[in-house]
Amino acid sequence: MDRRDFLRTTLLAGASMTLAPRRTTAADARIDILLDEPIGRIDPNVYGHFVEHLGGVVYDGIWVGEGSRIRNTGGLRQALVDHMRRIPASVIRWPGGCFADSYDWRDGIGPPEARPRRTNFWAEGMPERPDGPWKYDPNHFGTNEFVRFVRECRGEPYLAANLRSLPARDFYQWIEYCNSPAGSTTLAELRARGGMPEPMQVRFWGVGNETWGCGGNLTAEEYAVEYRKFTAWVPRYGTPLSFIGSGPNGGDLNWTRRFFQTLTAKGEGALGSLWGWALHHYSWNVSRGATTDWDKGKGDALVYTTDEWYELLHQANLMESLITAHWAVMGEIDRRHRVKLVVDEWGTWHKPGSEVHPSHHLGQQSTIRDALVAGLTLDTFHRHADKVVMANIAQLVNCLQALFLTDGDKFLVTPTYHVFAMYAPHVGGQAVRTQVSAPQVSYARVNDRGTVVGLAGSASVTDRTLTLTVVNTHATDACETTIALRGARAASARATVLTATDIHAHNTFDRPNVVTPQDVGLTVGAAGAVTHRFPPASVTRLSLQLG
Ligand code: AHR
Repeated sequence: MDRRDFLRTTLLAGASMTLAPRRTTAADARIDILLDEPIGRIDPNVYGHFVEHLGGVVYDGIWVGEGSRIRNTGGLRQALVDHMRRIPASVIRWPGGCFADSYDWRDGIGPPEARPRRTNFWAEGMPERPDGPWKYDPNHFGTNEFVRFVRECRGEPYLAANLRSLPARDFYQWIEYCNSPAGSTTLAELRARGGMPEPMQVRFWGVGNETWGCGGNLTAEEYAVEYRKFTAWVPRYGTPLSFIGSGPNGGDLNWTRRFFQTLTAKGEGALGSLWGWALHHYSWNVSRGATTDWDKGKGDALVYTTDEWYELLHQANLMESLITAHWAVMGEIDRRHRVKLVVDEWGTWHKPGSEVHPSHHLGQQSTIRDALVAGLTLDTFHRHADKVVMANIAQLVNCLQALFLTDGDKFLVTPTYHVFAMYAPHVGGQAVRTQVSAPQVSYARVNDRGTVVGLAGSASVTDRTLTLTVVNTHATDACETTIALRGARAASARATVLTATDIHAHNTFDRPNVVTPQDVGLTVGAAGAVTHRFPPASVTRLSLQLG
């Protein structure tokens, strides 16, 4: 089965291992930071999140209800909100994903007790899982609750509109509901009755989701026509609206090309209606060349070999070529590159079995391996800060590469959460070109050998602070590295490291601090030279004060 079939089926059907002793390589690595070569400002929205009505994301993860014994603020899980305030404030995408294209936003407004109960898009795909709000959605978490959650997290809402099963009129009326001035329209009054009289000023709007699959099973040409229709007229109320088009499945360059061609068939002015082009990329196939089957290719979240470790990290690194390839194709028509890339779904997707509660469909545990995927991916976005203006890890809680896991009143942060916290100083900084020279790591695939970069990273400057983040992908070897600054000198330096002695290490409700960042000492040499030994299987942040 491929991913498209998986989504279509859902739509229609309604060893641990012991590590070798650690050693330090003799091989030197070198990182050159070229301060005179700026790339672009790192947009805070690159640290965005994704919340779908799927398994335990909304009901349990975020929404516990006002009467809950779980600590909450107006029904929102307090521990989650508290932790969201400790990582970069960013955009949060909702209500899907595939769910978005069967969601009627009118079901989620008005008095909660009067809202209808509806069959969730994912319900048919989870017959063996217990019944509950994840199957029959009571709509207690609707537009007002979501926007309140986002504001509590100090973020920005990003709403994904239903293109498959609602007409364009519903799209512009949802905008009217959210953004029309207090008291101006019937919908603004409805919004006010839900406790939000002032306009929500929602800026980001997704026009469909995965329209090549669950979002309508369209051709690129068919979608482009729908896109033009949906965006031909919408009310703005003084809020600059940023529309995001449903982009390709991974490396499908033809989807991008054909969409851009048809979008502009009546003139290049249509590019002005497209702010961002959404790319989705999941790291999931650890079969090392044995299969491309969507189910068979996946591996366990907790049990994997060292070769599978490398294969997954290699998959994460494909993000780089996806960005540059789609960017080049977009440039064939959008020569001035007015339209930017939005990677609004990314992360790891392992096979079922490690979820912390049976209702958590697509839920999975998250190890230090997932943390390295997060570090590699965020560093890739920084290196393309001129192209990528938003990204949303899938998904926030209890699903795929989550930052948080919950089960009733139990709550933990995953290693991926720590990467988001460690990388915070990059946000808003000026990304600068960084050259990494390090040995490649070779590993066994079924019929050949694979390679993955040994070290990868990115650098940015904010005022006189240089932030360098580096991932050492090697499962067993540390890497002694010289860090050279071109165009400045380091006066002092600090390091924070996320690593573990076991490549399967993860946090559990009983042992929530197995993988947590540690501060380590770092000295700056006489001539401003910095050397650092990056531990194996690690994500490191260096903070350098420039002299
Ligand atoms: O994140 C889970 C699903 O993956 C989303 O609903 C869909 O857009 C993608 O295929």
